Amino acid sequence: VTVSLTDVTESNWRECIKLNLTPEDQKYVDRNVFAIAEWKFEPDNVLKAIYSDSQLVGMLAFYIHDGQYGHFYWMYHLMIETQQQGKGYGEAAVKLALRDMRERGAKDIRTSADTGNTRAENLYRKLGFEETGVLEGDGSKLLRLATLYANLSSL
Ligand SMILES: CC(C)(COP(=O)(O)OP(=O)(O)OC[C@H]1O[C@@H](n2cnc3c(N)ncnc32)[C@H](O)[C@@H]1OP(=O)(O)O)[C@@H](O)C(=O)NCCC(=O)NCCS
Repeated sequence: VTVSLTDVTESNWRECIKLNLTPEDQKYVDRNVFAIAEWKFEPDNVLKAIYSDSQLVGMLAFYIHDGQYGHFYWMYHLMIETQQQGKGYGEAAVKLALRDMRERGAKDIRTSADTGNTRAENLYRKLGFEETGVLEGDGSKLLRLATLYANLSSL
């Protein structure tokens, strides 16, 4: 199985917004339709559809923050549809996104996971993110991949 990140376009955006999540999982991530709308108004954000071979399985997004909080890449959206979870797609997709960010010059990559979202937290930790001890305004844990930046080269 080959996992790839593909642009969201006229031909797949409807399929993207139909990707399914349980009500429980919907608490952890914005709806894809919202992520697409946001990206339309913030075109510098990077929004990708996640494919396993030719099958659409999820979506992710990141942006570059350059402002009052410093300069870093922020992964703000990640989902794998319910029926496709647990197959390694999330991990493969995040690795591709990290590589993409590195190629764009990222030295500091951050994300957050809701307290209690163990699957996301385990996934991020597995890929080298460390807990900062900081909670975001919404109560989610801020995770950061900066000190382990050297490890990115092995992704
Ligand atoms: C979080 C999410 C993206 C993970 O994607 P996935 O494709 O199911 O995960 P993978 O199969 O690639 O698993 C990779 C790692 O994630 C962690 N993980 C995945 N499922 C897990 C589970 N049920 N329990 C504990 N850890 C789990 C593990 O560290 C796993 O590595 P391992 O298999 O070596 O233990 C997916 O569950 C999801 O979309 N959840 C709902 C939305 C969400 O929470 N998004 C993240 C917002 S921060």
